[in-house]
Amino acid sequence: MFKNQQPTYYHDYLKLNALLNAQSPKSKEQGNEAHEEMLFIIVHQAYELWFKQILHDLKFIKNNFSQEQVLDEELSECTLKLERIHKIQGLLLSQIDVLETMTPMDFLEFRDLLIPASGFQSVQFREIEIGLGINEGQRPDMKQYNFMGRLNDKDQANLKKVMTQDSLFKLVEKWLERTPFLNNDEFDFWTSYKLSIEKMLEKDKKIIEENETLDSAQKEAQLANLAITGKTFEALLNEEIHNKSIEEGKKRLSHKATQAALFILLYRHEPIFNQPFRLLNGLMTLDSNFTTWRHRHAQLAKRMLGTKIGTGGSSGHKYLKATADRNKIFEDFNNLSTFLIPKSALPMLPKELKKKLSFHFSGY
Ligand code: HEM
Repeated sequence: MFKNQQPTYYHDYLKLNALLNAQSPKSKEQGNEAHEEMLFIIVHQAYELWFKQILHDLKFIKNNFSQEQVLDEELSECTLKLERIHKIQGLLLSQIDVLETMTPMDFLEFRDLLIPASGFQSVQFREIEIGLGINEGQRPDMKQYNFMGRLNDKDQANLKKVMTQDSLFKLVEKWLERTPFLNNDEFDFWTSYKLSIEKMLEKDKKIIEENETLDSAQKEAQLANLAITGKTFEALLNEEIHNKSIEEGKKRLSHKATQAALFILLYRHEPIFNQPFRLLNGLMTLDSNFTTWRHRHAQLAKRMLGTKIGTGGSSGHKYLKATADRNKIFEDFNNLSTFLIPKSALPMLPKELKKKLSFHFSGY
């Protein structure tokens, strides 16, 4: 035991007095308690507790990425935290199954007492979205669904402060832009990658042209498709086109960070890129888990409300479906899969560079 430390008592340590007395069903206050309202409150409270843990872990990751250099051991710790968030997201998803044991008619017993409160006002949920780097402009119809207007002054001020801080997206982008090994005297990744792509497209063209099972119309159609693929690659390889896509809101990740991310994804088998790859992969999983939750929550809303509007006043399922389709943060990383090429077609790395990218014991 630590010096001068009183014996810790389970109930006090976990502040169970406060926690277990924090459920006040509105229907009970009205003198006609709806049995299911307790479940509704507890599920929402459990969500908020897990949101708190997600924010705690996100803070750890962001603090590390705010430094000028992210050390290997810190990167590994950040990846572990990210992987924990994935597990929490699994819990968040399965809590919907528990909530769905309440039937839509049970919900109607107390639903109107909630108006105008709604998950729409979950400040922690917004902190997660903003802290990760949601693009405010991509939210569905901001004028109609402006969540800020539904919050009190204190919560608005808190979120506005979060908006002024670098998001995880921004921090990861800056970290990627600092990636070493992209080009030096012995190797220029971009030039070598471009050559590999040109060779790959040329080879595909030849295969179509020499394919005797295709008639001329089929060949023409396939060559037209190949030309579209060529244009997609050009949009990546040409910095000007890439920057124009950013201006038009079609992409977010800077050209330099995109090059680095692609380099890491393509050469993830090189030991030094193992951790960066796990991190990027982890961010994509995080994003896709949130999208899955959003779709599942939209389905829940449809099952509970049909086409009724939400207690927060939105169009309900329609609005929630739009958020699931649009509110993605690390989508640019997912889109890089278009530009992956087989390992066998990758530009060979010079021997010296390969050595630098490997872990080697140099002896004491
Ligand atoms: C009976 C169960 C539920 C129903 C019918 C429901 C319905 C809705 C609806 C219709 C909205 C849109 C805003 C509005 O008009 O109110 C909404 C938003 C939201 N709900 Fe739920 N919800 C339920 C449970 C939950 C739970 C358990 C959570 C967990 C915290 C949650 C979190 C949210 C969040 C974060 C939003 C804002 C989404 C965004 O704007 O992107 N909801 N919900």
